[in-house]
Amino acid sequence: MYILGLESSCDETSAAVVRIEDGRFTVCSNMVASQIETHRLYGGVVPEIASRAHIEAITGITEQALLTAGIGVSELGAVAVTAAPGLIGALLVGVNFAKSLAYANGLPLVAVDHVKAHVAAAYLEYPHLAPPFLALVVSGGHTSIYRVDDHTSFTVIGQTRDDAAGEAFDKIGRVIGMPYPGGAAMDALAKEGDSKAFAFPSPALGGDTLDFSFSGLKTSALNVINAMRQKGEEPNHADLAASYTATVVKAIERKLDMALTATGAKTLVLAGGVAANSHIRKALTALCERRGVTFCTPSLSLCGDNAAMVAAAGYFEFCRGNLATTSLNASACDTIASQTQP
Ligand code: KG4
Ligand code: ZN
Repeated sequence: MYILGLESSCDETSAAVVRIEDGRFTVCSNMVASQIETHRLYGGVVPEIASRAHIEAITGITEQALLTAGIGVSELGAVAVTAAPGLIGALLVGVNFAKSLAYANGLPLVAVDHVKAHVAAAYLEYPHLAPPFLALVVSGGHTSIYRVDDHTSFTVIGQTRDDAAGEAFDKIGRVIGMPYPGGAAMDALAKEGDSKAFAFPSPALGGDTLDFSFSGLKTSALNVINAMRQKGEEPNHADLAASYTATVVKAIERKLDMALTATGAKTLVLAGGVAANSHIRKALTALCERRGVTFCTPSLSLCGDNAAMVAAAGYFEFCRGNLATTSLNASACDTIASQTQP
């Protein structure tokens, strides 16, 4: 069957056609219209501008996705759309477009959780990947460790209590003059600096918890920068990026090591926009090698927001019979609410 995926939760409008045959995924098209250049002017995503840009882009990007895949709407088996979490106005554009398209063409409609979709990106490239496994989703809005119990049910076993890792990278990137979003530029700059030049507090909370807190790290880095600037000095940006990144990487590595021990999981999936970070990828590859755990992470084009991952997650919801109706609404909040001990 073919599934059309639609994504509009933040600043990327995306449409994709994914073919599923005998449980195997083929990405036929995955078009992404990024609004980054527009939001860059303001140093971050402006929700109202995002909603309007989604409205302008969604019809064209969907047509492109179908055209590139070489199929018509009548050949689709379902329409899957991100319905939560994200910017409410942005989500509503995708949800209403998907509802109209599905209703007008008599197609089943599937609501997808954005976080589950990030994890589902891994199924597109690892055909043998199957739950149960452990997943870390690191993005602009999330830093959470999940026990993926089956394709559609996840349990949160650790999460950030304040900022997400992506926000933490973007914030310091902005302060040292990088255009929004600074994550990828911080990644590159960190390769050129001394990771021991600055000592920052760890975002890994102490004790048995698998939770993180990135706000202290962010404040500490800001204090270092401001204190030097008040003396008319500027910290070495590469050293700052390297020390900051090393602190984030160490915290993630430590909590995942604990999570692997606590759950006995034999597979780890790293997903979300920040999963593109080369330092995190390297550290988790090494951690999994040391522990004899299979490590799966999508290629860079599937880490950031895209609709192929929405189609993949939608397929599993569809198989479970989790179909949405025309009363489907978007929600800004997480749908994966339950948090338990591992
Ligand atoms: O998943 P995503 O595309 O959107 C959300 O769902 O939030 O993630 C975007 C985040 C941004 O904060 C961006 O700076 C970050 O991913 N990011 C990175 C890298 N590439 C993107 N952060 C660190 N290193 C990277 N290489
Ligand atoms: Zn995302």
